[in-house]
Amino acid sequence: MIKEIPLDLYDAHLELQAEISFSDELKFFSSLREWGSVTSVLDLGCGNGAYLVRLAEAFPNVRFLGIDFRKDAIELAEKMRPRENVDYHWGTMSSITDQFDALISRFCMLYTDNKNEIANWVGEHVRSLILQIDNEDDSLETPPILERVRANWHVTRVNDRDGRYRSACNDTEPLWSRVGFEPIHSDVLVVDNTSAARQIQFRELITLATELGVGRPLPEQLRSDIDQWGLLGGHAQYAMRASWFQRCGVT
Ligand SMILES: C[S@@+](CC[C@H](N)C(=O)[O-])C[C@H]1O[C@@H](n2cnc3c(N)ncnc32)[C@H](O)[C@@H]1O
Repeated sequence: MIKEIPLDLYDAHLELQAEISFSDELKFFSSLREWGSVTSVLDLGCGNGAYLVRLAEAFPNVRFLGIDFRKDAIELAEKMRPRENVDYHWGTMSSITDQFDALISRFCMLYTDNKNEIANWVGEHVRSLILQIDNEDDSLETPPILERVRANWHVTRVNDRDGRYRSACNDTEPLWSRVGFEPIHSDVLVVDNTSAARQIQFRELITLATELGVGRPLPEQLRSDIDQWGLLGGHAQYAMRASWFQRCGVT
């Protein structure tokens, strides 16, 4: 699904998603003492590198490798977001033989079908930590005026388990456990539109998220719903859960 999204839309969406919350997401890292001893990180599903390059700037002494199986995304990342402590690699994990202190997977596990293969690779190549960041859809809140718009977002698709919204971190816990990792810390970041700057960013994000679902240009009705919401304001929020897993026996 992700692979078919036009590159310009994909790039704009990931860039804005990183821009909106990256500074707040840093708390996920500062809250974990063990992160302080990490020197090498694999970012699984790094996409266009928008998030990874911010992370690499925040932690200049850590060496990062971003991989993605979307070739045009990796080409874009190499061209637009180069950084001294970052390498990019097109392909899947099976082509990587190095070992890493930590694995980061942000908004990736939901979109991948080969979770078992990933877990097997992680069991053999990740020494210490896994950080998984994914949407926490139970915390998604939008005003009624956006109901038609919201119906087109991937994030509102109810998982087939008991009609609950998806929570990728819970779903993958047994996978990480099977290859020797246990959950050690979990945190939720709620991102809302309370500030004026966020109001503008949310409007853009809502537009992009809808375009991801229905394509460009947006149908008139949806465009007008978003315009009206922009005029009326109203609370909106989404959230992401970050879960840390540590290799059993590592202290
Ligand atoms: C929603 S994007 C997230 C990008 C980035 N992590 C971020 O937070 O902005 C998910 C990315 O994961 C990639 N992906 C999904 N499964 C993958 C896999 N098994 N191996 C490599 N890349 C994968 C997709 O191609 C896509 O670029």
